[in-house]
Amino acid sequence: MFVLILGGTAEARDLAARLHGAGVPFASSLAGRVARPRLPVGQVRIGGFGGVVGLAAYLRSSEVTHLVDATHPFAATMTRHAAQAAADVGISLIRLARPGWSGRPDAPGWHWCGSLSDVCRVAGGIGARPFLTSGRQTLPAFAAWSDRDVLVRVVEPVQQALPARWTVVQDRGPYDVDGELALLRDHRIDVLVTKDSGGDYTSAKLDAAAALGVPVVVLSRPSSPAGLREVSSVDGCLALLPG
Ligand SMILES: NC(=O)c1ccc[n+]([C@@H]2O[C@H](COP(=O)([O-])OP(=O)(O)OC[C@H]3O[C@@H](n4cnc5c(N)ncnc54)[C@H](OP(=O)(O)O)[C@@H]3O)[C@@H](O)[C@H]2O)c1
Repeated sequence: MFVLILGGTAEARDLAARLHGAGVPFASSLAGRVARPRLPVGQVRIGGFGGVVGLAAYLRSSEVTHLVDATHPFAATMTRHAAQAAADVGISLIRLARPGWSGRPDAPGWHWCGSLSDVCRVAGGIGARPFLTSGRQTLPAFAAWSDRDVLVRVVEPVQQALPARWTVVQDRGPYDVDGELALLRDHRIDVLVTKDSGGDYTSAKLDAAAALGVPVVVLSRPSSPAGLREVSSVDGCLALLPG
C-alpha cells in the first residue's frame, strides 16, 4: 500500500500526520504556488505533474495504490485530473474536502453565485466598498471595479498591477472575529465577497459581517466529477483506506 495525498490544505496535513502515526507509507504533493508553504510530515514532492498523462505516469512509476485528493475545494482542475488519472491507472481515489459554509444559520441570507462574473455583477450592485476575499486568482474577474475603494486580502503577493484605489492586505488565517470587525469598520465595508471555502480558518469574516449587517456574496463550489467518492473529514477518509 502506498498513498499519494494531493495537498495544499490543512486537511491534507492532518491526513499526512495521521498516516505517519499509523505507519502507513505515503507521500504528499504540493502545487508549489506558495513561497513558504506549511509542509506536511513525511515525503513531499512539489510542482505540477504535467496534466492527466503526467499524473498517471507518476502514479504508475511510484506504485501508488491509493490516491487521496485533499486539494482545496476550488482546485477544480486538479480534482478533474485526479479522477481521470486514477481511472486510467485503475487505482482507488478518495476526494477529501472540508464541508462548505452552506449549513451556517446565516447562509440562506447570503447571495449565492455560480460564477465569478455573477459575483462581480451582484456584489457590484450591492455595495461601493467591497471586501474581496475570494483569492488572488479571482482578481481579474473584478477589473471593472477600478472606480471603487476595494479592500483585497490575499495570502501570497499579487503579481499583477491593481487599480490605484484598491488596498491590498497580505495575510493568512486563522482570523478572529474582533480583528475582522475592526477591518470591516475601518474600511467602511458595505459588501463582503468570498467563496465557499468552508472551515474555521477564514470564517470569522462571516461572523463579523453578520454582526454588522454587511451583505455577503459567495461563489458556490465547483461541481465534482461524476461518481467521485467524497468524504468531508480526515476520519472519514481513514475509514475508507485499508488497514
Ligand atoms: N484554489 C484555491 O482557492 C486554493 C486555496 C488554498 C489552497 N489551494 C491549494 O493550492 C494548490 C493549487 O490550487 P489551484 O486552485 O491552482 O489548483 P487547480 O487550478 O485545480 O490546479 C491547476 C494545476 O496546478 C497543479 N496542481 C494543483 N494542485 C496540485 C498538487 N497538490 N500537487 C501537484 N500539482 C498540483 C496541477 O498541474 P499539472 O496539470 O501540471 O499537474 C493542476 O492542473 C492546490 O494544491 C490547492 O489545494 C488552492
